This record gives sequence, structure tokens and C-alpha cells, in this order.
Amino acid sequence: MYGSPLYVYSEKIIRQRARIVKKTFEGINLFPTFACKANNNPNLIRILKDEGFGTDVVTLGEYHASKMAGILDEMIVWNGNGKCINEMSVLSNVRYVNVDSIEELERWKKISTRTGQIPELFLRINPDVDPKTHPHISTGLKKNKFGIPIDMVDTALQKARNSNLKIVGFHVHIGSQITDFEPFAEAISQVVELSKRYDFGKINIGGGWGINYKDKELDLSQYQRTVVPLLRDFEEVVVEIGRYIVGPAGVLILKVEYVKRTHEKVFIVVDGGMNVLVRPAMYGAFHGIQVLNPEKEDKIEVDVVGPLCESGDILAKHLMLEIPKEGSYILIENAGAYGFSMASNYNSTLRPAEVLITEDGEPRLIRKRETFEDLFRTIV
Ligand code: LLP
Repeated sequence: MYGSPLYVYSEKIIRQRARIVKKTFEGINLFPTFACKANNNPNLIRILKDEGFGTDVVTLGEYHASKMAGILDEMIVWNGNGKCINEMSVLSNVRYVNVDSIEELERWKKISTRTGQIPELFLRINPDVDPKTHPHISTGLKKNKFGIPIDMVDTALQKARNSNLKIVGFHVHIGSQITDFEPFAEAISQVVELSKRYDFGKINIGGGWGINYKDKELDLSQYQRTVVPLLRDFEEVVVEIGRYIVGPAGVLILKVEYVKRTHEKVFIVVDGGMNVLVRPAMYGAFHGIQVLNPEKEDKIEVDVVGPLCESGDILAKHLMLEIPKEGSYILIENAGAYGFSMASNYNSTLRPAEVLITEDGEPRLIRKRETFEDLFRTIV
């Protein structure tokens, strides 16, 4: 009815997980934001707005998505290591900005002398902590491009003195898909200590909560015991959670075109690959796969591949799966975060449609499939 490839989301799961986030911080004055890089569909962001969330945006595009969802400026936090002047003037009314460098602070200083008014600023700290996740998604090691090293904080704060800049706290985000609580405890305790030293009442602890793609997810009761107590004395704690909320709430449905057998392997060839879900190709990420209509029960080792012109166009390698019937469908699990938002038009393919299963169980189209007209709209 909606065609394939198709992303399908569950409103119920999104709401459940948003509530778990808030519950984990019970007793804390929490400012919860949804990191809409994980999924920019305004229909989903609107659900989170309804659950009391603001958004964490990185770009004007994500700001636009937030506005379409009705998020007020005072509920928006702006992140990014490459903020440009144009963005700085459009986004100068958001609630908080996480400043990534001393160089950025200089730029805000210039703007504030011109306009007299800029948002409250947090300094992003690089605590040099290993989050033990994929290298491409770790952000808090000193070799990473993000944040200000702790020993440069004094210099940064000095720059802000005798200016209109209002620095109100520190921000820390050490990476994504983190399944151990220790790296969080290590990074956040450093930044808590720093906040106490400088007498800041607000703190932003980023996101990064890992979900269960294969065998392990972040143990939130451990997190609650070890990390949350560190935050008790703050007047406000900002979080920026993406994957944990929407990852498990979304699946990707693909159609089986062929079951191809060679001397070497069995390939399940489906109608979308790295264009619709790039995580396996880009990070070697694992996503569970369900065969919706198996030919028989036995499982054999297969590679699940897309139709694009690259050997790297894979969704799974060496996976034990039932052989699906040709023309039937497979379902890719945990595809709600960094799925559609990282989809591309490579090989001039059209980006998929998105459907939301509402709380009362009804499917609702929330994004149309692209058309060739959309694809070439900007050609002159
Ligand atoms: N805050 C900051 C400053 C971030 O950079 C990120 C994610 C988040 C919050 C949200 O993190 P989450 O709660 O979703 O883990 N494309 C990669 C993930 C990149 C994450 C980038 N930053 C993937 O598909 O695994």
C-alpha cells in the first residue's frame, strides 16, 4: 500500500522511551531535548514535544524541522563545531548554545557587541574519555574535533569577561551508542567537578545512550545509581537524547528481489541498501533482520545486500537467516535512529516513505516517497 523501501515507526514506543528518559532523572530539574539529527520527521518531533521535550539542533535544517513540529525557540539547544555567521543570526533566539571552541566564543563576542543580545552559552568540554564505541561516533577523546580541553577552560572564561557573553554552564557529550555506564560516569563527574569549581548551576550532559542492536544496551538502573546522583545539586540539567528514544521505535521494510546463489555465498538482494540505511556500510553496524515470509524454517548463512553499484552496499554480512520467498519482505530492526536521517539519493534513488503507527494502532503516512521530480527540482 505504501510501497517499499518503507520506514515504519511506533508512536507507542517513542512515548514509552521518552518517559523512561524523564523517569531516569526523577528528582532532577531536567530540560529534556530530542537530538533531531537521529530523526528529523516533524511528525515524530511533535510527539516528543507533547512529551515535554525540546530539541537539540545542529543546523538550520534541524531548526526548521523543529519549527515545523511547533517547538518554541526557548525549547531549543544549538550544538555544532562549525556554526557560521548566517546561522548565528537566525538562531540567536534559541534557549542555549553549546560553544565548541574559543574561536567560536570570539565570534559570539563580536556578534554580541553588534546586537547586544545573544543566547545563554554552555562551553563544550572535551574530557578525553574513551566511550568504547565505534571510532566514528566517539567525540570526547582529545584527538576528536569536539570541545574545549579542560586546561583551556580558564582561558575561555577569561575571554568572556568584560563582555555581553553569558556563560551559564558546561556541556559534555562523549559519543553515541555507549552501552557501558562507566564512560558516562567518568566524563560527567569531571564536568560536575569543573562546574562546582566555577560555580555553575546548569549543566548539559549530552546524549549517547546505547540501545540493544545485538546483545547489550545501556543499563539504566546502573546509570541511575552512578550518574544521576552526581547531578543532584544542579538547578537545571539538560540532556540531548536521540537514538535511545527513536532507534527501537522504527523498522525498515524492504522487498526481496532475488535470492542469488554463487559458489561462494547466498545473497539476499533487496530493494534498498546503503542509500536507505547506511549504518552497516558506514560503521559495520549490526541490525537484526526478520524474514517475514520464509520459504522454509532452516537458517543458512547469507549476506543481505542492496541494489546499488558498490560492493560495500550491504545491510548484513554472514547472518544466519531463513531464505525468504522472492517478492516477499524483510524487516530491519532498530532503524528509527540515523536511518532516514542519513539516507541519500545515491545512484539517483528516491528516498523512502515513512509511516507512523499511531497509539490507536492506525497507520498514518508521515512522509511521502520522493519522486523523480523532487530529485531534480534544483536542476537549472
Ligand atoms: N548531543 C550531541 C552533541 C551529539 O553530537 C549527539 C550525536 C547527540 C547529542 C545525540 O546522541 P544519541 O543520543 O543519538 O546517541 N550517525 C551515527 C551517530 C552519530 C551521533 C552524532 N551525535 C550512527 O548512526 O550511529
